Amino acid sequence: MSDTPRIFVTGGSGYLGGSIVNELVAKHSNWNIVTLVRNDQQKKIMLDTYPKVEVVIGDLDNKEVLLAEASKADVILQVASSDHIPGVETIIEGASRRRPTPAYVIHVGGTGMLHEVPNGYGQPSEKVYHDMADLTEITSLPVEGHVHRDVDRAVLDAQKRFSVPTAIICPPLIHGVGTGPIKKRSIQIPYLTETFLKRGKGFSILEGKNIWDAVHIRDLVDAFILLAEEAVKPNGGDAQWGQKGYYFVEAQAFNWGAVAAAISKSLYDQGAIKSTQVDQLSVEDAVTQHPWAPLLWGGNCRSAADRLRRLGWKAKKGDIFASLPSMVAEEVKNLGAQNATLTFDH
Ligand SMILES: NC(=O)c1ccc[n+]([C@@H]2O[C@H](COP(=O)([O-])OP(=O)(O)OC[C@H]3O[C@@H](n4cnc5c(N)ncnc54)[C@H](OP(=O)(O)O)[C@@H]3O)[C@@H](O)[C@H]2O)c1
Repeated sequence: MSDTPRIFVTGGSGYLGGSIVNELVAKHSNWNIVTLVRNDQQKKIMLDTYPKVEVVIGDLDNKEVLLAEASKADVILQVASSDHIPGVETIIEGASRRRPTPAYVIHVGGTGMLHEVPNGYGQPSEKVYHDMADLTEITSLPVEGHVHRDVDRAVLDAQKRFSVPTAIICPPLIHGVGTGPIKKRSIQIPYLTETFLKRGKGFSILEGKNIWDAVHIRDLVDAFILLAEEAVKPNGGDAQWGQKGYYFVEAQAFNWGAVAAAISKSLYDQGAIKSTQVDQLSVEDAVTQHPWAPLLWGGNCRSAADRLRRLGWKAKKGDIFASLPSMVAEEVKNLGAQNATLTFDH
């Protein structure tokens, strides 16, 4: 592959996509970075920040744009959405048109699909899903009741149909403030903090002993870039692609009660709420705070990133508790100005 590969990043205006573009520009100044955004305003901000980046306006529903860009790219980082089946299928089809060999497609999923509550909401589960040893079990989870699984299945089917080397990276909770120029905000911690701010007090779902994993945004960006670096080596380097190209990317396990307490303490320290007390809410009461509360904060999603670690990836940034004060400060600063709606439909 050329020394100046062309990398197409969707979702450049986003938390993850913007952070990836930012790091790619810094680390690989000789690569040709192309990013997809949705409007002129986003395009202007991207170009003002990264004059050498090519910015394309389009949408994951815009088949012509995706086919054209994917067929011209060497590597595609599809991080605009974990839930847009037609978009990623079109990207894989476009990647198959690259000559003489197809482009590599790296798609973002999410460990939300591992969600389980075998001992009830607010209680821990035992099972940790390993992306190598448990791959068959993971990719056989039913679509019903497992968010993102329908998209994983569509990606794996399309890679076979079009003979395109793909990788799916499934992040757990992502923490840290983003480094892109537009959206800097993750999902679960910001939404929970915003809910505490509006309620004036923290809460956990029942006892809050349920466990998730976390990864810092910079460590996750490193994982995407590591796979892109492998993709531009002969034959996809040492990474695994296709049916075995399935990567978890966890750095740390935590329980939600401890995170709820730390967010409350940080809000209190910043003078934003008057008590550090954390209420235990029933699932029904938590749903009145946010419709996706049980999935976002009430269950367990436990993964192990064996495949990435085998490739040399290592988490280097601070843990989730170190990230909370800055993430909480962003919410205090922007209260009411951010969008806390969440959908798993595209
Ligand atoms: N953050 C997490 O903790 C986490 C963890 C696991 C998985 N994920 C998933 O990873 C994906 C990216 O997450 P994120 O936190 O970076 O979200 P984000 O900040 O909302 O970024 C997504 C970006 O993609 C763009 N986009 C969304 N739908 C699009 C479409 N149909 N066509 C073209 N562009 C589109 C958005 O553009 P606009 O700015 O115009 O809306 C946005 O800038 C999401 O699907 C999310 O569910 C996130």
